[in-house]
Amino acid sequence: MALLIDQLNLGTPYGRYQVDAVIGQGAFSVVYKATHMTTRQVRALKVTPEDIPGVQPAAIEEYRRRFQAGAQYGIRINDPRVVHSCDFGHDGDLLILAMAYAPGGNLADRLWNLRLDGRLMNIDECVLIALDIADGLGAIHNQDVVYCNLKPSNVLFDADGMRAQLADLGLAQLPGGVSMFSQVGQAGWRHPGTPAYMSPEQRRTTDYLSPPSDVYALGLLLFEMLTGRVYRNVRPGARPQSLRASIPIWLDDLVARMLVDQPDNRPWDGVETANLLRHENSGDAVPRPECPLSWEPVEPSAHAPDAGDLTPAPPLTPQDAPAQVDPAETREPPLDWAPVF
Ligand SMILES: Nc1ncnc2c1ncn2[C@@H]1O[C@H](COP(=O)(O)OP(=O)(O)OP(=O)(O)O)[C@@H](O)[C@H]1O
Ligand SMILES: [Mg+2]
Repeated sequence: MALLIDQLNLGTPYGRYQVDAVIGQGAFSVVYKATHMTTRQVRALKVTPEDIPGVQPAAIEEYRRRFQAGAQYGIRINDPRVVHSCDFGHDGDLLILAMAYAPGGNLADRLWNLRLDGRLMNIDECVLIALDIADGLGAIHNQDVVYCNLKPSNVLFDADGMRAQLADLGLAQLPGGVSMFSQVGQAGWRHPGTPAYMSPEQRRTTDYLSPPSDVYALGLLLFEMLTGRVYRNVRPGARPQSLRASIPIWLDDLVARMLVDQPDNRPWDGVETANLLRHENSGDAVPRPECPLSWEPVEPSAHAPDAGDLTPAPPLTPQDAPAQVDPAETREPPLDWAPVF
């Protein structure tokens, strides 16, 4: 992936954007911070190449098709809890999505820093972040889209670090379901996603997914925020409260309901989950704090994560990202920005 980073010369014009910095990279894309040259608005550019050394062309093609369809949908979803997609186009063989820039970092980095400090996230903040995510999922589900890609690196924060937003509809299941994507459902193809953050039905089947699949993923995130533990590393069925005694029973029950195997027995969608979080939480009347994070030390009764439990560093260098770059492989400088639609 270093190829892309090398290719976009930082500070030089690129289409309508000047690329300022590399934010990070995922399995198939690199994300850059960039400035629109006429409006001076700061954006995040997600750039996906046509070929990546070491990755099967069919896999990249599938990702690019999803990326394009997800971008087209993302532009239509206008909700403060979903990172706004502004523009989408191609430049030579690069697909480029311009998004609103979320300056407050992502949840993966927050969780990672908490782990390094041996701290747990304040419970009220866990609830407020989950509420933002549930509201974002609600906006997505209301469009008959299933997000399918809820994981810490796709939860971004605003400048104050207070409000969470969902990024990346690139793996979303759009109306019409799997039939839109020829590869899924064929032998050897499964729903794409990040295994630690997939619902059982997303992981094990090629079935049409419904909103409870995203609710399960939110349950996984809530579990991790509350306990500092990755759900699939703990004994199946473990309750958050068994790892952190101060978690209120209503929240413990709700997380357990979100994590049941049978989709029909979970809260149905983001809207229902947000309502439950608001309703159940109203007795505690949690005000939104005025400064970002108030962390608390791992409680003595909790099973603090030990070194053996640590997940890999935040997914800036995912395992499936190509590690090798052929220096002989160069591309033409970017051509004019050409919108796809
Ligand atoms: N609009 C944005 N504003 C600020 N940072 C962003 C934005 N979109 C993505 N990022 C950050 O850029 C980095 C790379 O994102 P990217 O989506 O390519 O990878 P990922 O989410 O880690 O994995 P995946 O390839 O599975 O999506 C992540 O740290 C992510 O939080
Ligand atoms: Mg992402």
